[in-house]
Amino acid sequence: MSIVKVFMDGKTFEMEVDKDTTILEKAMDEDIDIPFSCQSGICTSCIGKLVEGDVEMEVNDGLSDDEIKDGYVLCCQSFPRSEKIIIEID
Ligand code: FES
Repeated sequence: MSIVKVFMDGKTFEMEVDKDTTILEKAMDEDIDIPFSCQSGICTSCIGKLVEGDVEMEVNDGLSDDEIKDGYVLCCQSFPRSEKIIIEID
């Protein structure tokens, strides 16, 4: 179980996410409005910047190599892989 903090719209949301659940899935369960569309790693609607921690993405086709290097992640594809995770969503 990971503690995931999401900074979005000037607010901080905190949730506990297990390793088999994506950050977007859990956010939807908790009524946290992370933008999304395709839910399959293509459209990048759910893009966020990983400020702290580690996630594993199943598909990240929508991201360029530079975006990946800069720490951008797709919440619909991101499974938590560290105890504490912080993601910023613009
Ligand atoms: S919702 Fe389309 S990439 Fe995540």
